[in-house]
Amino acid sequence: MNLLIFIIIIQQGYMKSKINTLQEYKAVYTASVNEPDLFWSEIAKQFTWSKPWETVCEFDMERADFKWFKGAKTNITINCIDRHLKKNAEHTALIFEPNSPKEEAQHISYKELHEKVCKMSNVLIEMGVHKGDRVAIYLPMIPELAISLLACARIGAIHSVIFAGFSSSALAARINDSQCKMVITSDGGFRGNKTIDLKSIVDEALMQCPSVQKVLIAERTKTVITIKKNRDFYLAPLLDEASKINEAEPMDAEDPLFILYTSGSTGKPKGMVHTTGGYMVYTAYTFKNVFAYEQRDVYWCTADIGWITGHSYILYGPLLNGATSLLFEGVPTFPNPGRFWDVIDKFGVNQFYTAPTAIRALAKESLSHVQNRSLASLKIIGTVGEPINEEAWQWYHKNIGKEKCPVVDTWWQTETGGILISPLPHISPQIPTYATTPLPGVQPVLIDDNGNEITDTEGSGKLCIKYPWPSIARTIWGDHNRYKETYFTAFPGYYFTGDGALRNKEGMYRITGRVDDVIIVSGHNLGTAPIEDAINEHPDIAESAIVGFPHDIKGHALYGFVTPNKDLPDLNGMKEAINTLISKKIGPIAKLDKIQFTEGLPKTRSGKIMRRILRKIAEGDFSNFGDISTLLNPEVVEEIKNGRQN
Ligand code: PRX
Repeated sequence: MNLLIFIIIIQQGYMKSKINTLQEYKAVYTASVNEPDLFWSEIAKQFTWSKPWETVCEFDMERADFKWFKGAKTNITINCIDRHLKKNAEHTALIFEPNSPKEEAQHISYKELHEKVCKMSNVLIEMGVHKGDRVAIYLPMIPELAISLLACARIGAIHSVIFAGFSSSALAARINDSQCKMVITSDGGFRGNKTIDLKSIVDEALMQCPSVQKVLIAERTKTVITIKKNRDFYLAPLLDEASKINEAEPMDAEDPLFILYTSGSTGKPKGMVHTTGGYMVYTAYTFKNVFAYEQRDVYWCTADIGWITGHSYILYGPLLNGATSLLFEGVPTFPNPGRFWDVIDKFGVNQFYTAPTAIRALAKESLSHVQNRSLASLKIIGTVGEPINEEAWQWYHKNIGKEKCPVVDTWWQTETGGILISPLPHISPQIPTYATTPLPGVQPVLIDDNGNEITDTEGSGKLCIKYPWPSIARTIWGDHNRYKETYFTAFPGYYFTGDGALRNKEGMYRITGRVDDVIIVSGHNLGTAPIEDAINEHPDIAESAIVGFPHDIKGHALYGFVTPNKDLPDLNGMKEAINTLISKKIGPIAKLDKIQFTEGLPKTRSGKIMRRILRKIAEGDFSNFGDISTLLNPEVVEEIKNGRQN
């Protein structure tokens, strides 16, 4: 495309952040691929920067080096909050819906959010947090969570949110990996009819975390907690004292904004690092387009801020657009399975974004929970986190979207920072189970078994991306080599997603699932290695292998093949002990659904466990194990087959 056409596209207003027709999508997409720098600079100009960029994008795929908007300065909170104060100060930024429907919801305007974030920023500074310091956030879904992230961003501290379902060991490992100076937590959290004592989990974790100097505690459950002198402080009195004036720290576009841990195929979690400028531009742009957000809409994403979906599409993306974003503390089934639908009616939610696992769980409940509610406010419904099966897609489209709301099946990852492949509502065709087309600036490719790009339109292979987009993770905290190895060496010149996908003859993508040792259970990524490490710590266990098997609600569940190193008198007791160990080391989300004790695990002559065979057995598919004669111990296959757990 030559410059002239690009200029025409700009003049026609296609670059004004929101795409309205299929023709516009095609024109904008072509422009974004042919002239990425021009394209992204047009989008980026719509934000407030205190210093402009020198270059739009500099990159080297081989070295896994990416710089977007180099030299520019901004603070993401100026764009999320301050920028809206002139015209929309009284507009609601966040709606907080508590766990119990009996507790009153809170509406926080942009003006109030500004004041709260400034006060919190001043508290952090007062407590000795400086630009570049890491702050761990271990909070339930309460307003303090959103405010803490924004306050860190405002002063230039790097937030590292750890999902409040992780155990104390998992928390400690993440705090230590990035040497956090502070932890922000709460006395406890409410989830359905349970209360979780978060502070005591933090206390246990901190016995192993020498870098942490201060702990700030939000009061939520009024649980009695222990306060360690000079380390632990209740937040409320500090906020009362703090000034409501705070000048945002000017940040370089490439300064880290946050670290967020994700599971890998090998042991240690990976601290994905996202930086300021590119992340800001990309999450704002994709939020606007994927959810077709219009002024005064009420948008609700049911994820937890502890995951990337919450970072990008509860907090940053919506606030960058001056949107109203709903923060929900509870669970879909409390006090009854109609809760999501009640909340939609209560606030007139227009865009609703959830996970296939929640859809499948709610589809199993009586339809009366849906039929008793109106849901008339809904305009767009979305899904994320794992492939959505056709049945769940149809149920969602029919019963929740009433066949009038487009379903946006958004594909992306912690590493990508924002949505890469998704239908655009009312623009893209609706094909159940297909994430359809790439968003502007995103260049997906499929790679075949020989490592070559599939050039035919139709095909299936490993999903890679061949050009950087602004919110691509920049590194793994403290281990750039691992970042390079994990994502950029399998197929040189490409970012490898770890997912398989197929492309139909219209060029639409359908994501088929992970092709590595990561298993997605109820939308949570779980690496098999850390779970196996946890089990193997048991003195009576020699070794173990975890595989996934299809599950009606969770999508996939975990099946463990475990070899004890002695005769076990109480196998059921051992199963319980294994799950307790996993809960303690990682968290209850990683518990095994099925455990089978085996004499041995099938191994290649080089000692590698043949997971392919175990996967088939777990799925109950005994056909065609392939050539097992090369195994070191082919006899165990029969034994494992016979002992399969139903
Ligand atoms: O396998 C893909 C799956 O979730 C993985 C990323 O997980 P995580 O980093 O936890 O981020 C989840 C939220 C963005 C991907 O590699 N995945 C995500 N969205 C979809 C999906 N699989 C199929 N369809 C999707 N829409």
